[in-house]
Amino acid sequence: MASNPAARPEGRLAILLPGLGAVATTLIAGVELARRGLGKPIGSLTQMGTIRLGKRTEGRTVRIDELVGLASLDDVVFGAWDIVNEDAWQVAKRSNVLPAEQLAPLEEMLKGIKPKKGIFDPEAVRRIDANHVIEAKSHRARIEQVRKDIRDFMKDLGASRAVMVHITSTETYRPAGDAVSSLEKLEEAIEKNDPLLNPALLYAYAAIMEGVPFANGTPNQAVETPALQELARKQNVPIAGRDLKTGQTLMKTIIAPGLKARLLGVNGWFSTNILGNRDGEVLDDPSAFRAKEVTKTSVLDTILQPEVYPDLYGKISHKVSIHYYPPRGDEKEGWDNIDIFGWLGLPMQIKVNFLCRDSILAAPLMLDIALFMDLAQRMKWRGMQEWLSFYFKSPMAAEGLQPEHDLFIQLTKLKNTLRVIAGEEPIHHTGLDYYADDLPLGR
Ligand SMILES: NC(=O)c1ccc[n+]([C@@H]2O[C@H](COP(=O)([O-])OP(=O)(O)OC[C@H]3O[C@@H](n4cnc5c(N)ncnc54)[C@H](O)[C@@H]3O)[C@@H](O)[C@H]2O)c1
Repeated sequence: MASNPAARPEGRLAILLPGLGAVATTLIAGVELARRGLGKPIGSLTQMGTIRLGKRTEGRTVRIDELVGLASLDDVVFGAWDIVNEDAWQVAKRSNVLPAEQLAPLEEMLKGIKPKKGIFDPEAVRRIDANHVIEAKSHRARIEQVRKDIRDFMKDLGASRAVMVHITSTETYRPAGDAVSSLEKLEEAIEKNDPLLNPALLYAYAAIMEGVPFANGTPNQAVETPALQELARKQNVPIAGRDLKTGQTLMKTIIAPGLKARLLGVNGWFSTNILGNRDGEVLDDPSAFRAKEVTKTSVLDTILQPEVYPDLYGKISHKVSIHYYPPRGDEKEGWDNIDIFGWLGLPMQIKVNFLCRDSILAAPLMLDIALFMDLAQRMKWRGMQEWLSFYFKSPMAAEGLQPEHDLFIQLTKLKNTLRVIAGEEPIHHTGLDYYADDLPLGR
C-alpha cells in the first residue's frame, strides 16, 4: 500500500464480480479495449473526467486521475463467480452488447475468464438454469468457500488489493427483516441457515470479512442492511450501493432536479420500458421486479420533497413498469410521460423516448465504483461511502440522514470529496469575493 493514500497505488487491483453477465463482460471487454487503445472509456469519470481546483482566476483544471491516485487500467485484473458455467467470451457473444468485430480481438483474453462456482438459491433467482453452484450445504460453508475463492483469486491474479462489485441477476424481493437488523442477529441467522438470507448478502458478508470493499450494483438486499453496515465498520471496510443508476432512472435524476429548480409542479410521471436481455427475462418474474420497483420509485420523492412543496409535488402519481420483450436484447427502449404544471396551475407535458443500451451505460459506472472504492480503502475509510451516491439508483447515507438523489448535488459531493482527499479546498460556487473585497468567501 502506498504511504500517501492519494498517491497512485502500486500492484494489481482485482475487481471481483459475483455475476458474470452482460454488464460484467461489457466492463471487462471495455477495459481491455481501452488498454489496447482500441476503444475509449466513454462515460467514466475516472478515465475522462476533469476537475477544477482553486479559484476560477487560477485556471487550474486537471484530470481526476491526475488529482488522486487511482489504479491504472494496466493494473486491473478480473475474477468472477457465476451459477452458469460459461466463460466471459461465451457470455459476451450471447449477450450481444458489443458487436462481433469489437469483440473479436478479445477472444483469447475473454475465454481465459472463467467464473468460479456461485452461491445459488432457487428461490432468489427463478428463471436461470443453474449448473455451476457451490455445493456446500450451510450458509457458513458457502461463505467460507467464497472467502477462500477471494484469497485464491488474489494469489492467482497476482493482486495486492481487491474490490468486489456485485452484479448478479436481480433476486426476488424477500427482505430478510429482523435477521439483518443487527450483526448479532445476522450471525444467528447464518448459523440457523435462515432461508431469507439471499446470495447477495452472503457474498457481501464474505467480502467484508476478507477486508475487501463491497459495492452493490444490483437492487438485491446486501450492504444497506444494519447488520452488514455494522460488520463493515467493525472490519474497517468501505461499502456502497445500491443498484446502478442507468437508463430511465438516470433520466429521472437529470430532469426532476431541473423541474424542481424552476418550481414547476409535477402531478404524474409514467415510466415504462421494454428490454430483451437476460436481466429483462429475470425481471419478468413479478417478485424480482418488486426489488427493482423499490429502488426505482424512491427517486422522485427524495428529489422533489413533496413534504416541503405540497402544492407542487404533493399529489404525484408515479408508475414504473418493465416489460420483457426478447427482440430488443440489450437495446432497451424507455418512454416517460411527465405531467407538469406551471404559473397558475396550467398543465403541460414532457415526453421522453430513450433508446439506450443498458450495459453500455452500466459498464463505466462499475469501473469508477471499483477504482473509487479502492481509493476509499487506501484512505482507510470504512462503512458507507455516501460520496459515491452519484452512481446508485438507491444511494445510501448514514443512519438518520436523507440520501441525496439529485445527480448534480451528488456530483458536487463526489468532486469536493476528491478535492479534500488531494488537500485542495472544496468549492462552494458562490463567487462572492469577485464582487466585494470585504467578503471572505471565494471560488
Ligand atoms: N444493465 C444495467 O444498466 C443495469 C443497471 C442497474 C442494475 N443492473 C443490475 O445488474 C445486474 C446484472 O445485469 P445484467 O444485465 O448483467 O444481467 P445478466 O442476466 O446478463 O447477468 C447476471 C448474471 O448473474 C448470474 N447470477 C445470478 N445469480 C447468481 C449468483 N447467486 N451468483 C453468481 N452469479 C449469479 C447469472 O447467471 C448471470 O450470468 C442485475 O441485477 C441488474 O438489475 C443492471
